[in-house]
Parts: sequence; C-alpha cells; structure tokens
Amino acid sequence: MAIERVFNKYNLSVLDRALVTELVCGSIRQRQQLDSWIDYLAKMPSNKQPPLLRWLLHIGLYQIFYMDRIPVSAAVNTTVQIAKENQLKRLTSVVNALLRKAALAHVNGEILPLPECHKEQLAQKYSIPLWLADDLIRWKGEQVAIQIAAASNKTPTLDLRVNCRRSNVDNVQQKLKDSGIESSLIEGCPYGLRITSGTGDLCEWPGYKEGEWSVQDRSSQWISPLLSVNPGECILDACAAPGGKTSHLLELMNDEGEVWAVDNSRKRLEKTNVNITRLGLKGAAFLLADSSALVFHKPLWKGYFHKILLDAPCSGLGTLARNPDLRWRMTPTKIEQLIRLQKKLLEGILPLLRPGGKIVYSTCTINPDENSKQIDNFISNHEHLLVSYQKQLWQGDVHGGDGFYAAIIDSLM
Ligand SMILES: C[S@@+](CC[C@H](N)C(=O)[O-])C[C@H]1O[C@@H](n2cnc3c(N)ncnc32)[C@H](O)[C@@H]1O
Repeated sequence: MAIERVFNKYNLSVLDRALVTELVCGSIRQRQQLDSWIDYLAKMPSNKQPPLLRWLLHIGLYQIFYMDRIPVSAAVNTTVQIAKENQLKRLTSVVNALLRKAALAHVNGEILPLPECHKEQLAQKYSIPLWLADDLIRWKGEQVAIQIAAASNKTPTLDLRVNCRRSNVDNVQQKLKDSGIESSLIEGCPYGLRITSGTGDLCEWPGYKEGEWSVQDRSSQWISPLLSVNPGECILDACAAPGGKTSHLLELMNDEGEVWAVDNSRKRLEKTNVNITRLGLKGAAFLLADSSALVFHKPLWKGYFHKILLDAPCSGLGTLARNPDLRWRMTPTKIEQLIRLQKKLLEGILPLLRPGGKIVYSTCTINPDENSKQIDNFISNHEHLLVSYQKQLWQGDVHGGDGFYAAIIDSLM
C-alpha cells in the first residue's frame, strides 16, 4: 500500500501511524462529502481547485467534521501551516478562510443541503460515486442501499484465522490476551477470532512468526470449507494469490494432497509462497499462468482435479470499507471488463474438472452481474453442471464481515 511505502521513509510512533492512517483513509473515503463542503463554502467548486490544494482541504475538513479528538483550531492552524510549507504559500489565505468557515459551520451544527434526487443524496451523504448509488438502489432498494453504503464507511473489523495444524482458537486467544490484545469468537466461523482491541505491528503479535494464524476476514474464511476437501485430493486454486484461501484449504486437508496455486501475477505468487511457508504448509505447488488457458499450458490437467476454487478477480465492492480508494478507482467500464474475464476463467477451468467434481466460484463483490448472473449464464451453457448452493453476503448485514459471494457448482458427469 502507498501509505506503507511512506511509513518506511519516516520513523513514526505507533500512535502517529494510526493518526496518519485515519487522516489519509478517512479523507479519501469521504472525498465526495468533503468536495460537497468545498462546493458549498468556497467561491471555486472542488473540481476546479488545484489538486494539491483540494487534497489539503480534504485533510483539514476531515479533521473538522469527522475527528472529535483533534481541536478544530488545531486542524485549521496545522493545515494552514502545511499549505505555507508545501508549494501553496500564495493560497494560505484561501485555506485559512475556507477552514474557518467550515469550523463555524461545524460548531453551529450546520448541515449540507441535500440534492433532491435520492441517488444523489445517497452518493453525497455516504460519499460514494453516483453510478454506485444508482446500482445499490437498483439491487437492494433505498433502505438496504443506505445500510450497505453506511457499512462501507465503517472502520473494518480485523479478523484472524487460526491455523488448526499449529494451534487452536483457545490457545491463540489466550496468547494474544497475555500480550494485551483482546479478541472474541466469531459465530459460524470455527477458526476465526475478531480482534476487539490491540495495537502495533501485527507481525510482532504472538503466534504470527510461528504461523499460528493469518489475517483473513470472516467472509473470506467462509469460502474454502465450501469445497469440502479431503486429504489426498487434487485441488486447483485458479486465482490463488496471495494465498489466503490456498493456505486455508491446506489446513483443512491436513496438508496432505496435491494443491496447485495458480496466479498470473509473479509478484503476488511469490507473496503466496512466503505466506504459505510461514504457516508451515508444504503441500502446495505454484504455477505462474493465465488460468483461462491452463488446458493449453498443461494438457495433462484435462479432467484431473477433484475440486477447483475460482476466487475470481472482481470489482471488490464488498470490501469498500477496507479499501478506501477503491470506490474512486472502480468504474462501470472496468466492471464490464472484469465480467468478461470472469466468464473466460470459468470456461477455461471447466475442462480441468474431473467428472463428478466440484467448482467453487467466489468473489468479494456484491454486484449480481459478477455473481449470480455470471453463474446463471455459465450454467445455462453447460447442461451437466448444477448449482447446489449459492449465497450473497452484503456488508452491513448481521454476519458483520465484507460483502462476498459464493456458488458451489457440481458436475453431474
Ligand atoms: C481475488 S484475488 C485472489 C485472492 C486469493 N484467492 C486469496 O484468497 O488470497 C484474484 C487473483 O486473480 C489473479 N488473476 C487475475 N487474472 C488472472 C488470470 N487470467 N489467471 C490467473 N490469475 C489471475 C490476480 O492476480 C489475483 O491475485
């Protein structure tokens, strides 16, 4: 992540890192709302402001409207100071005037005028792009769309998955507690622990270096068990990197079997190897390849695998809380491209499945076109396939994790 590259350059305390992370992630996440404040308070609209000034104003406004622990006067003064020291000297009076107006509006409890149209209201209030507000309302209706948008702005939970070959949930929980890190069990997630309080570098937490646990959201922990793997089986993880689900599969198989972790990103595949090695798992083989064309790279794999996991590249709309800039990077055009890629990957892995085998298709998005509709189309082209299970989890619903989708597809011959 870009922020980690910056942290590596400066020697910041744990608390300062947390503050910088909140400032950066929060002001990126709330960009739409902060721009609306600029449009409301400034003479020049946000999209006409020089980018450096606009970003700095976001940081100042975020502190005023969202961070109770920073006094408003400190937010104004430090932002003006930063403007002075960073190529915005001529514009310090603009920064000062706008932030003072904002501070006054905040103290007076003023609220931004809302647009008339419901989707524009949703976009402004929850700081999401208009196309996404439109989609959410179309998919789930206005009330649920609000819940999803609100959940996408919350600080994400931190969940761990205990490596059942190295430890168990009780031991890991106790070890963490002894170091001042509190956690709770997660309903329906047998190896999961939700961290409820704890700070510092995760890699220094007890049990990390020993491979006793991995960081994995509870929704993601739901996927690998859907394959019902058994020791000794041949499994293909067709989009494996960075290995969260491959390692979970190996843990569930007692590390016995033939598990191929395939990915088309060299860097991410190297990371997969590092992650799996840390967990003490030896049963994985790695292949750098395009999984939509595996039958050409590996003709002997035709009909070879008992089970295949396709954790497909997707729009990631279920993970907006975790990835604050994703909502601004993702576009309907990119989603169209992803849908085509998912289709190609599904068709590409199918010849590798053994008769009577099973495919689990999963994504971390809530877009039906990438999920249930994608699978309906796939099935309708192959008479011998049957969807025996499918489920969509939405962020903001009771399970409390990311938005995720999974389908189990059985081959009848
Ligand atoms: C959602 S991520 C997989 C996450 C992984 N399953 C986990 O649990 O850690 C999707 C992965 O698909 C890979 N990918 C994208 N296109 C691919 C292709 N044509 N062939 C193989 N891998 C691909 C990406 O590099 C990315 O690592």
